[in-house]
Parts: sequence; C-alpha cells; structure tokens
Amino acid sequence: MLDPDFDCPNGCDANGFLFDETTRSAYACTCREERLRRQVHADMEDNVGRYAPSRFQNLDFSELPLSGIAERHTAAASVVRRFGDRIDDNIRKGQGLWLLGNKGTGKTTLAYYVAQQARAGGFSVLTRNTTDLLNEIRDSYKVDAQPTTREIINAVTHVDLLHLEDVAVPRPNDWVLEQLYTIVNRRYEYNKAIVFTSDFPFGEHVNPAKLGEHIGERTYSRLMQMVGDPIPMTGADYRMQVGA
Ligand SMILES: Nc1ncnc2c1ncn2[C@@H]1O[C@H](COP(=O)(O)OP(=O)(O)OP(=O)(O)O)[C@@H](O)[C@H]1O
Ligand SMILES: [Mg+2]
Ligand SMILES: [Zn+2]
Repeated sequence: MLDPDFDCPNGCDANGFLFDETTRSAYACTCREERLRRQVHADMEDNVGRYAPSRFQNLDFSELPLSGIAERHTAAASVVRRFGDRIDDNIRKGQGLWLLGNKGTGKTTLAYYVAQQARAGGFSVLTRNTTDLLNEIRDSYKVDAQPTTREIINAVTHVDLLHLEDVAVPRPNDWVLEQLYTIVNRRYEYNKAIVFTSDFPFGEHVNPAKLGEHIGERTYSRLMQMVGDPIPMTGADYRMQVGA
C-alpha cells in the first residue's frame, strides 16, 4: 500500500488506482507514479537513515544563524537562497552546489538549508559526513551488517539530493578514493544532484583545483560538471569569535 495519508483529488484507492465503470477495469491514477517514487524514497530513508542534527533544523534567513551568515557572506548566501527558491528545477536538472572555504564560515549551515528546502519540496535527501559514509560502507562489509552495502550504495545513488559534508577527507587511501569515485560517478551517470562542502586551511589562497589533487581528478572533474564553480566562503572562524 502507498502512503495512506495521501489525499488524491481524483479519489484513487490506496494503491493509486481508479476504476472505470464502463470497461469494468482498473487503471493507474495520474498520482500513482509520483506516489510510488515517494514510497521508494521513504523506504530508502528508513533503511539507511537520515541525519539532521538539531543545530541545523528549521533554518530561516530571517533568523540566526542564517541571517548572520547572510550578513558576512552576502554573495554566497544569495546564491544559496536562489538555489533553494528553485530547488525543484535544480534537482530535476541534477544541478548541485559546492560550498568551499575556511573553517567556521557557515558552509555546513548553508548546505543544510538546501537540504531542508529539498525535503520541504517533497524530495528525498541523504546527508552524510563523507568520512562517516565511507566508514558505514566499510562496516557494511561485515556479515549480517545493517544496512547492507547494497542498500547504502543504492541510497546514495538514487536519493534525489545527496548532501555530503567535508568531501576533502583526511588521508584518503586507494580504497577511499575508489569509493568516492563510485558514488560520484553513479550520480553523474544518473544526473542526480549533489550538494557538498569542503574545507581549506585558513590563510592559504583558496584554490578549487586542490580538491582534484586530493580526491582524484576523475572524481573532481565529474563533480565540477555537476556543481559548476564553487561558492567561496573565506574568512575568520565564527566559532572562535563567539567562543562557541
Ligand atoms: N555569521 C554567522 N552568524 C551567526 N552564526 C554563525 C555565523 N557563521 C557561522 N555561524 C555558526 O557557527 C557554527 C559554524 O558554522 P558551520 O558549521 O556552518 O561552518 P562551516 O563552514 O561548515 O565550518 P567547518 O569548516 O568547520 O565545517 C554554526 O553553529 C553556525 O550556526
Ligand atoms: Mg562544515
Ligand atoms: Zn490519485
């Protein structure tokens, strides 16, 4: 059965079918395809689990922290806001975002805002810290592990929006690079949107190509095509200033 709370204007049944009295046969309602899609994604989120810490819930540009970030990083915030306003279009086109900058500038908060808008728009979203995701994949190799490797790979491949935190993983080895490549390449092939953040040491000139050196050129070049130019967020660490 599909979502029982779904209120279809055509009054179809629990499985998204209508009945034609003249031909005495059932036929699929126009809502069925969308409802099936949502069901698949709800199951997927149940299997793999989402991740939305309370610090990054209910984000609103008229309140802190987003209002503060928009004050300091006006250009970055307005790109993200516009992206969120057109979330439907962006996700359907497979268009993503890359937030690149120094520690504590608000990258993660802005990325969560995009994730939040996507969910509000009815899209499925998975958020993961990149290192955590790779550890989950490694753990899933164990016998009887839950979720299974296949479930994780399916989820990260097919979820409407994949939100990855800190893609420039520390000390990447060959296995890590290969997993990252697989994930990015799958999404690239399916034309699926990805939003990610990456860090740059404070004081160094922010150079996007460094990510390519770090995670491999094959992965980097696909990411670049999926997200376009990174949104720079440089400057001081907000956490240090408030002693947070
Ligand atoms: N300009 C700001 N005004 C108010 N709060 C802010 C501002 N910038 C950042 N913050 C807060 O500082 C903390 C760090 O922000 P966030 O996690 O988004 O930064 P980040 O760039 O992802 O950092 P990191 O590189 O360390 O992951 C968060 O709690 C966020 O709410
Ligand atoms: Mg962050
Ligand atoms: Zn219907």
